[in-house]
Amino acid sequence: MAAKKLLIVGNWKMHLTVSEASLLLHRLNEKIKGPLDGVEVVLCPPALAVQPLSLQIDHKKFSLGMQNVYHQDEGAFTGEISAAQVRDLVTHVIVGHSERRHIFGESDELISQKVAACLRHNLKPILCVGETLVERSDGETKRVLHDQLVTGLNLITAEDIMQVTLAYEPVWAISSGTDFADHAMPKPDEIEQAAAHMRKVVEQLHDKKTAKAVHILYGGSTHADLAKGYLRVPGISGFLVGGASLNYDQFSRIVNAAKEEANG
Ligand code: PGA
Repeated sequence: MAAKKLLIVGNWKMHLTVSEASLLLHRLNEKIKGPLDGVEVVLCPPALAVQPLSLQIDHKKFSLGMQNVYHQDEGAFTGEISAAQVRDLVTHVIVGHSERRHIFGESDELISQKVAACLRHNLKPILCVGETLVERSDGETKRVLHDQLVTGLNLITAEDIMQVTLAYEPVWAISSGTDFADHAMPKPDEIEQAAAHMRKVVEQLHDKKTAKAVHILYGGSTHADLAKGYLRVPGISGFLVGGASLNYDQFSRIVNAAKEEANG
C-alpha cells in the first residue's frame, strides 16, 4: 500500500515534432517500469501530438494532458482548442502556466474561466501560480499567490476543488529551454513557505480539510539529482517538470525517485 500519492507532470512545451514526441514516449515506456504504485505520471505533449500519442500510450502507466485549452466550448475562435474537444483524449490540463500569463497575457479572470471549462468536461486542471523575480524582491510573493489563487478558483464549488491540482511555479526558477540545471533553484524552505501560504488561501476559500488535502506540485525547474530532496518538502506532492521532461533519462529518474518516495 503506497504511503503517499505523488503526481509527476511532464510539460513538453512547444518542443518536438509528432514523430519525435512518439519516440520520446517509446523511450519513456522502456525506461519507466510499471506498476507505478502511488505515482501518477501525466505527459503533456504539444497539442498536435495528443491524439496520436493517445493511441500509442500505455494508459496503465501514463496519463495525457493538454498544456492549455480555451474557455469556450466551440465557436469562431481561430486557432484555439476547447476542453470539450479534448475530453476523450486527456485527463489533465495545465492552466495559467506562467508562459501563458506572461507571454500571452492571460489574466486571472480568463484563467478562472479555463479552470471552470476543464471541470465542466471532467478534466482535471493543474492551476499554476507563482511570483516573478521582481515580485519576490519587492516582498510581493504572498500577495501574488493569494490573488492568483482567489481569482483562479473563484468559479468553482467546494466539491470541485478536489479535482484541481495546484502548482507553485516560482517564475524566477523556470528555465527558458532545456537548460534544466543551469539557473536559479529555490531552496526547499522557500518552496515549503509558498506551499503553506497557498494552503492558507485555500483554507480561507473553503475549509481546513480541503486545504490539507489539496495537491500542490512544485513547478519550477527540477532535475533528477534534486528530485528526492524536493519531494520531501512538506506540503509538496509532486512536480510539474519542463525542460527535464524532454530528456528521457532525467524524467525517468525523476519518476523513479517519486516511486521510491511514495513507497518508501
Ligand atoms: P523548467 O520549466 O522545468 O523547464 O524550468 C518548469 C515549468 O515551466 O513548469
